[in-house]
Amino acid sequence: MTTQYRSASPAETEALGRRLCEGLIQKGLRRAFVALFGEMGVGKTAFARGFGAALGISGVKSPTYTVVNEHRGTPVPLFHFDMYRIQDPDDLTSIGYDDYLMREGYVLCEWSERIEDELPPDAIRVTVARTDGENGRSITVQGDFA
Ligand SMILES: Nc1ncnc2c1ncn2[C@@H]1O[C@H](COP(=O)(O)OP(=O)(O)O)[C@@H](O)[C@H]1O
Ligand SMILES: [Mg+2]
Repeated sequence: MTTQYRSASPAETEALGRRLCEGLIQKGLRRAFVALFGEMGVGKTAFARGFGAALGISGVKSPTYTVVNEHRGTPVPLFHFDMYRIQDPDDLTSIGYDDYLMREGYVLCEWSERIEDELPPDAIRVTVARTDGENGRSITVQGDFA
């Protein structure tokens, strides 16, 4: 299933992230992988902020320098990746990527373009793109959920 949304502001993008996460929680899912796609500065981290807020997490920031940030959340933790600096699958091994996939919690993965071959087949794919003007964005959600 593919659903396309429009966002006209960072707040709207956050709200979409929040809504998506609320849907996963409501379904009773203990694990999920949300793969974010889209260029620098398009709004992936804005989406992540809203997503984290649904888990009661405030202050989700881009984990660019650490690759992954772990947040305690309710009902599940959030593992927030930024793959911008990942060059090859060996880098994933050293950050324990596979271990995160087995843990209970939601994974949110910025720059999923970098690890296309390593994404779980059932990942929910969220693509953010610029549309009209300074603040216009399209947000396409693909996946079997909701
Ligand atoms: N509709 C929108 N949705 C999200 N961010 C927007 C939007 N319009 C403008 N922005 C701006 O774009 C930037 C997005 O930054 P960020 O979320 O860190 O992007 P990314 O994580 O994709 O690099 C912010 O400066 C934000 O204010
Ligand atoms: Mg970011």
